[in-house]
Amino acid sequence: MDADRGVGVGVAVEVAVATKVYAGGTDALQATSLTLEAGRTTALVGPSGCGKSTLLRMIAGLEAPTAGRVTLDGEAPEVLQRRGELAVAFQDPSLLPWRSVAQNIELALDLARLPRNDDRVAELIALVGLDGFATATPAELSGGMRQRAAIARALVTAPRLLLLDEPFGAVDELTRHELARELPALWEGGGTTTLLVTHSVAEAVRLADRVIVLSPRPGRVIADIPITLTRPRGAESAEAAALERTVRDALEAGRAGTAAGQNAG
Ligand SMILES: Nc1ncnc2c1ncn2[C@@H]1O[C@H](COP(=O)(O)OP(=O)(O)OP(=O)(O)O)[C@@H](O)[C@H]1O
Ligand SMILES: [Mg+2]
Repeated sequence: MDADRGVGVGVAVEVAVATKVYAGGTDALQATSLTLEAGRTTALVGPSGCGKSTLLRMIAGLEAPTAGRVTLDGEAPEVLQRRGELAVAFQDPSLLPWRSVAQNIELALDLARLPRNDDRVAELIALVGLDGFATATPAELSGGMRQRAAIARALVTAPRLLLLDEPFGAVDELTRHELARELPALWEGGGTTTLLVTHSVAEAVRLADRVIVLSPRPGRVIADIPITLTRPRGAESAEAAALERTVRDALEAGRAGTAAGQNAG
């Protein structure tokens, strides 16, 4: 039991008719409502520029909605943020350039006021395939390696809410498969609530309990597809292929502006 803090208990996320209009007038997100059940993994897909990162940053408390609100277990995101129970792996891995890989990961523990844990840091470095690079600085890594370091940093605190924005975007296909196979056990085991933004429909279906599809900008939810596949999930199955098709059809309908709810209002 992790009795020391809320570890092991995921957070329920509530986004209530949240709209985001950036200064300058860009309509990024339009009256979006969704509930993420505690402990579940949700994938968020949608065309480039539709507001996925915006939504993720709003859930993280890094961006205020123009209208509507976001609550995590009924509280403002900042509350969870301050307690160090929320972790984000951004689309552009933001590692401190003067710190080594291991030191960047340790920093997450410091910021969450958790004790040093060299074993866990080493274990995560190995898990994301960065063995031998613990003392390397970000400048000495490739883009995909930096992303993997950022994933390790997000996981090291065993957060109650894990927000992953295209975490495997710059990682090669094979490593991506490996990560997708190895990493979910880390967050599922901890009961973490996970939101994963991805452009890979196959990955969304393989990793998530549910796939939410956003329309082109300004984003709004146009499909919410439960992924009923049993776990652990193998590579390919007819059922997975059918679910992937459902997600692709929703994306396609969104692009054509014919998705359910798209013409209303
Ligand atoms: N800080 C910002 N200031 C002004 N406009 C922004 C800002 N961040 C994003 N936008 C705009 O909001 C819209 C949504 O951007 P966002 O980054 O959320 O899209 P996305 O779905 O994550 O796209 P991608 O798949 O390419 O990462 C875009 O039109 C973008 O130009
Ligand atoms: Mg984005």
